[in-house]
Parts: sequence; structure tokens; C-alpha cells
Amino acid sequence: MSVDPGPADATYDLVVVANRLPVDRVVEDDGSVSWRRSPGGLVTAVEPVMQKYDGAWVGWTGGPDSDEAPPDESGMRLVPVALSAQEIEEFYEGFSNGTLWPLYHDVVAKPEFHREWWDAYVTVNRRFAEKVASLAAENAMVWVHDYQLQLVPGMLRELRADLRIGFFLHIPFPPAELFAQLPWRRQILEGLLGADLVGFQRPGGAQNFVRLVRQRVGHKTHRDLVYLPDGRVVEAAAFPISIDFPGLAELSRSEEVAARAKEIREQLGNPRHVLLGVDRLDYTKGIFSRLRAFAELLAEGQIDVEEAVFLQVATPSRERVDEYRRLRDEIDRLVGHINGDYGRIGRPAISYLHASYPRDEMAAMFRAADIAVVTPLRDGMNLVAKEYVACRQQDDGALVLSEFAGAADELKQAFLVNPYDINGMKSTLLEAMHAQPRDLARRMKAMRKTVKEHDVVAWAADFMGRLSEVRPSHHKRVHPVEDD
Ligand code: ADP
Ligand code: F6P
Repeated sequence: MSVDPGPADATYDLVVVANRLPVDRVVEDDGSVSWRRSPGGLVTAVEPVMQKYDGAWVGWTGGPDSDEAPPDESGMRLVPVALSAQEIEEFYEGFSNGTLWPLYHDVVAKPEFHREWWDAYVTVNRRFAEKVASLAAENAMVWVHDYQLQLVPGMLRELRADLRIGFFLHIPFPPAELFAQLPWRRQILEGLLGADLVGFQRPGGAQNFVRLVRQRVGHKTHRDLVYLPDGRVVEAAAFPISIDFPGLAELSRSEEVAARAKEIREQLGNPRHVLLGVDRLDYTKGIFSRLRAFAELLAEGQIDVEEAVFLQVATPSRERVDEYRRLRDEIDRLVGHINGDYGRIGRPAISYLHASYPRDEMAAMFRAADIAVVTPLRDGMNLVAKEYVACRQQDDGALVLSEFAGAADELKQAFLVNPYDINGMKSTLLEAMHAQPRDLARRMKAMRKTVKEHDVVAWAADFMGRLSEVRPSHHKRVHPVEDD
């Protein structure tokens, strides 16, 4: 919190817009208001980079009907967009997290399609677009983030043709066969085409998008370019997101974190193997199957609670959405069963924490864990995998990683698993537990190098660099070679 970001009616050369601001408004029990870091990977990644820029960040404060502005962060002005209770239900819990989230994550839960939810999505996206239009300086760069705001680029382009607009999708972009289920598929594609540059986590997402634009909107495309009838060219490309590697590495090196890591191990009974899961409590994260695999190893006597403990940290998330409530109950029940069946006095098999922790505590957990178990059924990237790697100063520790996380493209030296294959997961967990230190060091060294070289600063520079190079409109029709 420092630099004055300018008067209230100032305009900005860079405007970042995401569903959430980096901080959430929290009303304490005594009625006082405080601001807490918002959950999720988007804020983890984007906040540390954006603090380095002057500009504005437009987003929601996490509660109903509040347009109270939080304190500005470094040079960034934080600009709230208010949502009513009904809009939270229909736009955020409904269309964003009951329709798009499951649809974009391989339909691991059934997406619901409701016309009122769609109407709310349009209304709220328009509100975000109007707010950005009023804040952006002439020819400013606007960076729109994530699935909650896919109509914003198109709406903004109509309001402000002078802007350079980038969009980045933090979650997977689904294959055409799944996306085609969406009754409003064409509107979403047209919304995204308002951007000059559309970024995805993986090359496959960019390819899915370009293919869909060709099939469903009928625009001409060539490789990663879309040619619009008005002469604009839209580029689609992969920009795998990352973490603040130096910041986290430094934090994890501190004496306080080292001492806390030691303490955590002691509190867990100093077992030979500490396994760790860190997730938002989300059905895409594969928490249930990973705990089941661990439980079966205990049941078969392949491991014993005296030698292995599973520390599972699950941040509460989207708790008013039915699927999330069901998941919470299922995990509570499973953990209860496993601990009841295999735990001993003072030795639960699973230490389950349903809470959110500060960064230094997370770093201590990553340092304390011998094995990080990251097994999403589908994930855009998964920053937890990269965070674990950043905290392993001694090139030790094993990362067990789902091949369905975007991070698997880069972290090839992880112990890769198919989270749907419980037997495969069991044998990989055993392999990771019994791996030789030299093998672990070889893997970890390579992964640390990758994450260090491709940190979040490089990610943002890459995206914004590409956006600032996008060619200006040439105002004539083009006839590129059409892909098949
Ligand atoms: P997603 O964006 O789907 O939540 P990611 O793995 O990409 O998934 O990012 C999650 C972020 O939230 C990471 O930075 C992780 O450290 C953080 N996080 C997850 N669980 C907790 C928790 N219990 N307490 C604090 N931070 C957490
Ligand atoms: O991309 C992951 C993401 O959905 C972000 O868009 C979001 O900010 C984060 O996870 C947390 O989810 P929510 O904002 O719904 O709590």
C-alpha cells in the first residue's frame, strides 16, 4: 500500500479487469470491515506482477451490494464493481460456476443451463465493460481475465474502439464437442473476439478456440490467427501462467519458515513420509480419489500410519453452490472413515484442515512435505505444483502430478499420474515414497530450473509484450489460406 494512484476521476494506461479484486471485503463479528486476500490462482499470479505497474484493477469485492473501494495496492487503484445478491446467485454461483466451470473442466460435474443465469451474465459483463471504458485512457491497454468475463472484450470494443484489449483464460478451454453444448456458444466466441490477443494456458486451448470460431462463427482462420470481416486480426496463443518464484523461494528459505516446517513435522509425529494436498475445495481437484488411493494403501498394509501421514489442506470455496456443498460432505465423511479405520491414538492417517492460511504457513507446509500430491481431474495450470517446487531448496521432495493439469506440460520430471486410475495412483505414490534421493534430486533440479525461468513476471511480460505488438487494423478484407 503506497504510491498515490491519482485522483478519483483519473484515467489509466493499463486497466486489469477480473471478477475479483485481489482483496475481499470481510465483515468481522463486531461489524467492522477488513480486507483479506482473495482466494485462488488468479490473484496469486496476477497480484504480485500488477503491483509493479501503475494502473487500475477493476473487480468485485466478494459480497453483495458493495461499491466500497479497498485501499489501493502499490501504484494500482482498486476499483470495485457492485453485484446484487441476486446477481451473485445467478452470475457468479450460477452461470460462472454452475454452467461454465463444469463445462470447461471436462464436464466432471453436470453443467446446468438456465436462461436467467445467462441474462445475469450479460448484465454483469456489461457493467464491468462500462466501468473499464470509463477508466481507460485513450489507446490504453486493457487486460481482461478469466471465464467470468468472456463477453467483456466484445462489449468494450463496441464502447472503445481505440483500446488494445487482451484476454487471458485461467481455466481450460474445452474441446469443440463439449463447448458445443452451450446454448450461448456463439455469443461467448464473439465476446472473446473483441480482444486483439486471446491467451490460454495450453496450446490445445488456443487450437480449440480457433477451430470453434471457424466452425461456429464462420470467420477465416490461419494457424493461430482469426481474420474478422472488419479487417481486425485476432491472435490466439498459449501463455502458461506461473508463480512469483524468487519471492516464494526467498520466503521458504527464511529461518522462521524452516523452524515452522520442522514444527509441523513434529506435530504430525515425525513420520517418514509426509504427503501434502493443498487445494480449493473443488470437485475438479481430485481430492476424493487421492485420499482413496492413500486409504487403500493403508488397508492393504503397504504403508502404515506410523510411517506415513497425509496432510490435506482445503480452502473453503463457492460454498453456496450445491456441488461444492456435496463435495465438502463427501470429503468430511471419507476423512472420518479413513481416520476411524486406520488411525491410532494421536496418529490420524489424514490431518484435514478446512481453512485458508497465510503465505508463510503455506511455504512451511511445502517445506515440511516429502511428497506433494496434486491430482486434479482437470486444471488450467495448478499453481500449487509450481509452489511446491519453488519451496524445495535442497532439490529434495517428490511431486506427484496429474497429467490433466496444465502444469504437466512443463513439469515433465514429476511423477505423473492419471487421477482416474486408482491403482496407478497407488503404485505411483509408493514409487515416490521409495525413490532414491539421487532420482528425486535430478527431477527436482530440472523442475526448479523450469519454474525459475518461466516465472510469473516472464508470463506477464510475454503476454503484454505480445499485446503491445498486435498489428493495427488494416481496414481491408483479407483472404488467408484457410485451415482444413
Ligand atoms: P485455483 O486457481 O483453481 O484455486 P491453483 O492451484 O492454480 O488453483 O491456485 C490456488 C492458489 O491458492 C495457490 O496459490 C495456493 O497456494 C492457494 N491456496 C490453496 N489452498 C490454500 C489454503 N488453504 N490457504 C492458503 N492458500 C491456499
Ligand atoms: O482460475 C481459477 C479461479 O476460478 C479464478 O478465476 C478465481 O479467482 C479463483 O479460481 C477462485 O475462485 P472464486 O473467485 O470463485 O472464489
